[in-house]
Amino acid sequence: MMSTVVTRPDPVAAVDWSNAENALGYRPGDVINIGWHCSDRICQEGRAAKTALIWEDAAGASRTYTFDDLRVHSNTIADFLAGLGVQPGERVCLFMDRIPELYFGFLGVLKMGGIAQPLFSAFGDESLMTRLANAGTTAIITQRKHVAKVRKIRAALPDLRHVIVVDAHDAPLREGETAFDLDRAPRVERFEVFPSTAETPSVLHYTSGTTGLPKGAQHVHYSLISQYLTAKVVLDLKENDIYWCNADPGWVTGTSYGIIGPWSNGTTQVVLDSGFSADRWYAFLAKHRVTVWYSAPTAIRLLMREGAAVAKHHDLSALRHLASVGEPLNAEAVIWSRETFGHPFHDTFWQTETGCIVITNLPGMPIKPGSMGKPFPGITAAVIDPKTYEPCTAPGRVGLIGLRPGWPSMIRGYWHNPDGYARKFVNGWYLCGDRASIDPDGYFWFVGRDDDVINTGGHLVGPFEIESALLEHPAVAESAAVATPDLVNMEVVKAFVALKPGITGDEDLELDIMNFVRKRLSPLAMPQAIEFVTSLPKTRSGKIVRRVLRAQEFGEPVGDISTLMDE
Ligand code: WT7
Repeated sequence: MMSTVVTRPDPVAAVDWSNAENALGYRPGDVINIGWHCSDRICQEGRAAKTALIWEDAAGASRTYTFDDLRVHSNTIADFLAGLGVQPGERVCLFMDRIPELYFGFLGVLKMGGIAQPLFSAFGDESLMTRLANAGTTAIITQRKHVAKVRKIRAALPDLRHVIVVDAHDAPLREGETAFDLDRAPRVERFEVFPSTAETPSVLHYTSGTTGLPKGAQHVHYSLISQYLTAKVVLDLKENDIYWCNADPGWVTGTSYGIIGPWSNGTTQVVLDSGFSADRWYAFLAKHRVTVWYSAPTAIRLLMREGAAVAKHHDLSALRHLASVGEPLNAEAVIWSRETFGHPFHDTFWQTETGCIVITNLPGMPIKPGSMGKPFPGITAAVIDPKTYEPCTAPGRVGLIGLRPGWPSMIRGYWHNPDGYARKFVNGWYLCGDRASIDPDGYFWFVGRDDDVINTGGHLVGPFEIESALLEHPAVAESAAVATPDLVNMEVVKAFVALKPGITGDEDLELDIMNFVRKRLSPLAMPQAIEFVTSLPKTRSGKIVRRVLRAQEFGEPVGDISTLMDE
C-alpha cells in the first residue's frame, strides 16, 4: 500500500527567530507591543477591512469584527483603563467567558502597558482569590454572571481598586464597581500605545505545580517573536485560512494561539463560546469552512466516542490542517482523524512556561502516530538523565524533557517566586517536569509527568490547592489528591480523605465534599471520586506520599516504600 503521508518541501529549512523579527519589522531595542502588532500593524499593512474574528455563542448569536474593529475596540478599552488611572505594569485580570470583550480587553490591557492576567471564568472564589492576591491585581474586568465571586473576596484584596463589568447595562452595580459598555463607549480611533520593549512584562498566566499554590508565569512582549513564527510554521497559517483554536484564553493555548499567534499573522479566526457537543462542533467547522483547527486530545476522544458517522453529516471538506496540544495524543486518535477528516492531528508539545510550541510534528513531516515529533527549529531539546543531568545519548532511554533556555517566549520568572523558578533549571537545562524518550530518528515519545501534577483534559491542576480546599471542609482531617485514569480526560482528580474523629463517610458526605471543592476551585479540580481512609502514606517527617496512591490508581508498582519513608 502506498504511504498516505504527503511530503512537501521542508518548510523550515531556514527558519530561525530572526526570520520572525524581520517579518515583523522588529530590530533589537525597538518598541514592541503585542496589542499593537495584533491590530494596528495589520491595518497599516492594508488589511484593516479583513475579518479578524467571527464569534458565536451557545445560543447561536454571532458577530463579526474586522482588524480595524480590533484596533478601535482595543484602543477603547486601553483608553478606558488609562482614564481610570490604571498604570503601566499593573496587573489587570480578565475574568470573562469567551465573549468579544475578553479578546479586545486582552489587547487593550497590553496597549496601555498593563500586564494581562487572564483567568478561567469557571474558577470559584478561592481559585480567584489566590491568584489575584499573589499578583496584587489592581483591576478586574468581568461580567454580571461572575461578579458575585469577586464581591465575595473583594474586602480581602486591598490592591484591587477597580471592578469593571462589561454587561452591566442599566442594572445597578455596587459602590466601587464600574460599568463599561463597549457598544456605547465612544470609539477611540487614536490611542498612544505604551512604548513597551522586548523585556516589558506582558501576560501573567497562573499554572499549577506539585507544591504550593499556583505560580504566576510571567511573559514579556518579545514572546511575540516565537508565537508569530510557530503559529505561521507549525499551524501553517496562510492568508486565506479560517482558523479555530478551541482553547479558552484562561489557559496559555488560548492566548499564545487563540490571540497572539493568529492575529499577529493577520489570520481570520472563529471563536465558539459554548461547551462541547460533537454535532455543534462539526456544524461550526462546516458553517465557517474552517481550514486550520487547533484542538486537544480530550476533545478528540469525545469526538471519537460519538463515532465517525456524526462527522459524515457535515461538510468538513475545507479542513486542511489539524493540530493538538495539552496531553498525550494517542496513536488511535491520529489514525482515526486521518480516516475521518482525511488529515491527521499533528501533536504539539509545550507549556505555560515555554510560551510557544517547542516539540512538534511539522506540516509535511512524516508522522509517527503516538510520537510528539521533533524540536521546533531554534529549540534545543533533550532527554536528560535524572541522575547525571546530562543528555541521554542512547535511543529509547527514558529521562526528563530538558530545554536549553533562550528562545523569545520563555517566561522570565514566576511572579514573586524567584526560588521556584530557579529550581526548574539544572545543569543549564530547563526541566519541563515531564518524562520522555527519543527514538533513533530523533522523534520524542511522551512517557508521563515527573511530578504529582494532575493533567485532566489537558488542564493541569495542583494537588496542594485541592488538598487546601479539602481541609477547609468541616469533616476533613487530612487528604491527598492524586490522578486516577479516565477514558476521556486521561486523568481526573481522586481524593483520599481521612475524616475527623466521630464522622463516618457516606455517599452524602462524598457529594458534599465534591461540591465544596467545585464551588471553591473549579469543576476541573473537583474530585470525581473520594475514598475515605483511616490514614495516608507518609514519610517519617510526616509528608504525605502521593506517589504511592497514584501508583495504586494506575496499577503501577509502588516502588521501594522503605526509601520513600526515609525522605
Ligand atoms: C503540560 C503543560 C501548553 C499548552 C497546554 C498546557 C502536558 C502538553 C502535551 C503533549 C503530552 C503534553 C505536559 C506539559 N502536555 N502538551 N503534546 N503531549 N503532554 O499547558 O497547562 O502549562 O501544561 O501539559 O505535561 O508539561 P500547561
